[in-house]
Amino acid sequence: MTEETLTEPLPPVRHWPVLDPAGVDVDPVLAGLMEEGPVTRVGLPGGEGWAWLVTRMDDVRRVAEDSRFSRAAVLERQAVRPAPHLAPAHDTVGFLDPPDHTRLRRSIAPALTAHGVERVRESSRRMLDELVDGLLGDGPPADLTRAVLGPFPSLVVCELMGVPPADRQGMRTWARRVLTSPHDAGEQAREEMGAYFAELIDARLESTGEDIASLLGTAVGCREITLREAVDLAVLLQTGGEAVGDSSGQMFYVLLTRPELAERLRREPEIRPRAVEELLRYLPHRNALGPPRVVLEDLRINGVRMRAGDVVHVSYLAANRDPDVFPDPGSVDFSRSPNPHVAFGSGPHRCPGGPLTRLVTELLVDALLDRVPGLKLAVPADQVPFGKGTSLRGPESLPVTW
Ligand code: HEM
Repeated sequence: MTEETLTEPLPPVRHWPVLDPAGVDVDPVLAGLMEEGPVTRVGLPGGEGWAWLVTRMDDVRRVAEDSRFSRAAVLERQAVRPAPHLAPAHDTVGFLDPPDHTRLRRSIAPALTAHGVERVRESSRRMLDELVDGLLGDGPPADLTRAVLGPFPSLVVCELMGVPPADRQGMRTWARRVLTSPHDAGEQAREEMGAYFAELIDARLESTGEDIASLLGTAVGCREITLREAVDLAVLLQTGGEAVGDSSGQMFYVLLTRPELAERLRREPEIRPRAVEELLRYLPHRNALGPPRVVLEDLRINGVRMRAGDVVHVSYLAANRDPDVFPDPGSVDFSRSPNPHVAFGSGPHRCPGGPLTRLVTELLVDALLDRVPGLKLAVPADQVPFGKGTSLRGPESLPVTW
């Protein structure tokens, strides 16, 4: 990455301090970089050096889908990252390239397709009804995050994983610690969760069950994957599921601060699936950027020359606001069609949790809009506390009344 060997002038490196943007606003640094160019360069608080940042939809998809951009190669680098503790992890699905990546993803694929997640729809609806019964029984005011939006996605992931009901509360505690605790405490929670999954999967090596622990057990039994790989994948899926709590917190923040949107969804329930897609497009699910990729051979993106060894970040949020793809991208438009958003990413690393997220959020929208008709914020919008210093963005609590 020596600049002298390049004949083209390079754009300046913009330092991105990764602070906590307000509410559901796009980080102002990212907004500036989106204006500045289709391809810019950034420095981030973790790692070393700089990385390319790609923000337009076509370019983002090209980088995410092209095998000349490697995730495994990130492990050999101190590549820039949004925070020092967000270091790449060896042997996890996010930092593998095909064919190992494909082998791991194959083992869990059937449980996470749109068809696969239907298996848990009715049991999930029952669990949600119980949570909403509790909310209504306790009466207003309430913290919607604590009562419903936080626990529900976690329960659904447990159901899909095959974690027995008695262990689900403990599972949620581990997942929150993995995601929010400083390095050592987070690492310890990850190890404790891993030890739990190792036992669960080991007990299901010959299972014919459809839950994910059984699928992983079968794959280990057939020697398609190792127990270690299975455990890492289980931990990643369980903690990935927590993302839905944060993003549905943001969704309800938007619906409660713009009551005309919630009203429309009450009046026109048939548009709810489309509305969920639009909110998935619009929301800034994560702070800053996800893991980068490393360029394996010299190539060009949108005319900009990248050299083998360069580090490249894509911003799916920026792509979801590309004005060439989404007219008036900063507005929430439930009639938007088509809506080819990339909230779940693109290419081989595309999030496996999309169908599950859709199931969980659609159930939440149905239950909360239909069963709690007068639902509204109990505090002014600017007093809703949002998480600080976290990679997933969302309200810490959502004080409501009805
Ligand atoms: C609102 C909810 C969610 C959003 C916005 C989201 C978004 C994403 C994105 C953008 C990626 C990265 C794609 C890339 O690296 O290019 C990803 C990866 C991943 N997500 Fe999600 N996700 C969500 C929910 C979930 C859920 C519910 C699960 C678990 C069931 C999950 C598990 C994962 C895993 C395991 C990966 C790594 C995939 C790989 O590298 O092959 N996510 N997600």
